[in-house]
Amino acid sequence: MLELLVPLFILFLILLTLTLIWRSKARKYISSSTVASAYDAWTQDKLLERMWGEHIHLGFYPSEVKKIDFRKAKVHFVHELVKWSGLDKLPKGSRVLDVGCGIGGSSRILAKYYGFNVTGITISPAQVKRARDLTPLGLNCKFQVMDALDLKFEDGAFDAVWSVEAGAHMNDKTKFADEILRTLRPGGYLALADWNSRDLSVDPPTFIEKLVLKQLLEQWVHPNFISINDFSDILRNNKNSAGSVITENWNSYTNPSWYDSIFEGIRRPLAILSLGPLAIVKSIREIPTILLMNWAFRKGLMEFGVYKCRG
Ligand SMILES: C[S@@+](CC[C@H](N)C(=O)[O-])C[C@H]1O[C@@H](n2cnc3c(N)ncnc32)[C@H](O)[C@@H]1O
Repeated sequence: MLELLVPLFILFLILLTLTLIWRSKARKYISSSTVASAYDAWTQDKLLERMWGEHIHLGFYPSEVKKIDFRKAKVHFVHELVKWSGLDKLPKGSRVLDVGCGIGGSSRILAKYYGFNVTGITISPAQVKRARDLTPLGLNCKFQVMDALDLKFEDGAFDAVWSVEAGAHMNDKTKFADEILRTLRPGGYLALADWNSRDLSVDPPTFIEKLVLKQLLEQWVHPNFISINDFSDILRNNKNSAGSVITENWNSYTNPSWYDSIFEGIRRPLAILSLGPLAIVKSIREIPTILLMNWAFRKGLMEFGVYKCRG
């Protein structure tokens, strides 16, 4: 009996230590500067780009196609959101603002394939530098460091506003909506995708779900998640929106991304190994959060919301 208990106790201690290290390294949201530092670090160590490519968002997996490459699914996502939100109705040369642009993956597609004149903003200076490095000369696409909650653009400066997976980092969702809709011209197009919780006021979280949500917030600098309905109401009630907001939950299209984001490291091992041993530790350190995200999105605790409306 003792022979079995000792190794079990050692295993328990190892797991406890790893969990405590994981928790102590959490990236809690304190202000937008904590978001900036987290993305600066994720950009400078190159790990995220090596793992996920130039798009820091989930992929779109059409239901009729069984398996597509994770990176292709991300490009596919951009085209699907353009089509769904009606941005493809805009003429070439239209001014598009990409809010929370990462290293410019979407911005470059919007400029290259749709001929838009794109401005991308992010809170992370390292991302702006990398976005500029990745953008070929002559592409109508520029990048600036800016806080989405304090946009330095005139009212109605853009024909379309695009924002993918940035809203969950905003502590004030109403201010976020105020700013994106203020900079959208009357009649312009809003295309937005974000991570939401299910409506917790209607279906309160269980004890386990509360623990999971806490990790999802604290590991990746998220101040709070709100439901698709709540954010839709915020947009609808804004004085600069035309009033009608259409939303969908794209969990079924995007969920395969979670496992794929782990398998990418196995499929392209050199991408990580060539960054050295620390990169291997750092990539393993993200796996529990990715697995929790996968669980939460598959269970419906989290929802991948897409939103479209006109200015
Ligand atoms: C998950 S990444 C998505 C990046 C990009 N939209 C993409 O799809 O590749 C979230 C982005 O939101 C940006 N972000 C978060 N909070 C922000 C804020 N307050 N102002 C501007 N950008 C912000 C981050 O810097 C990062 O670029």
